[in-house]
Amino acid sequence: MSSQDDIRRDLCRTYVEMGNSGLIFLAAGNVSARAGNGMLISPAGASVASISPELFVDCDFDGQANDGKKPSSEWAMHSAIYKAFPHAHAVVHTHSNYCVAMASTGASLPAFHYMVASFGGSDVRCTPYVLWATSELADLAVEALQGRTACLLGNHGMISHGKSLQAAFNAALRLETLCMQYVLARQAGTVKTLAAEQMADANARYASYG
Ligand code: 13P
Repeated sequence: MSSQDDIRRDLCRTYVEMGNSGLIFLAAGNVSARAGNGMLISPAGASVASISPELFVDCDFDGQANDGKKPSSEWAMHSAIYKAFPHAHAVVHTHSNYCVAMASTGASLPAFHYMVASFGGSDVRCTPYVLWATSELADLAVEALQGRTACLLGNHGMISHGKSLQAAFNAALRLETLCMQYVLARQAGTVKTLAAEQMADANARYASYG
């Protein structure tokens, strides 16, 4: 069991890694991990330049901070994911470039590559657009995440969860790369998508991988 200090340090390292990987710019992204009966989450308006472990906010699933600090405005979406998916231990939300590009079309990321199966199914769903930092967005994200570890948020970005911070971060980076590759594939020509059985096989292979 990690201490709160350890989780704060890991969260800070992950937030900086998100910035260094180009997944967040300015305050367009946030990260959290389960802690106690609630979560530790990046503060509202965080930035890579000024983040530090003690700035992470200790709050319950109603967004009430135990330490008087202001949690990320997207705390409701993080909370809803922890409540809906007991195996989720960390959540990453970003406005990364290619996820935003895809999410602006409103379409799901289809089975254009077998790695799409790594998120748990044969596509990565995209929610309809609703106002950011609302319980409506939280509900739509939970719906789009059924059976998946990531989804696109319509005209907004993406959100992922994982059994560890590293897993949630990896899912965010993987989705950004796959969205970029899909955008490139569409420029290259007509994209051939994989059949349901091919994706089911890829999914089964993931179950015994790593
Ligand atoms: P916070 O700075 O409040 O975390 O929000 C940024 C964001 O990503 C909104 O969707």
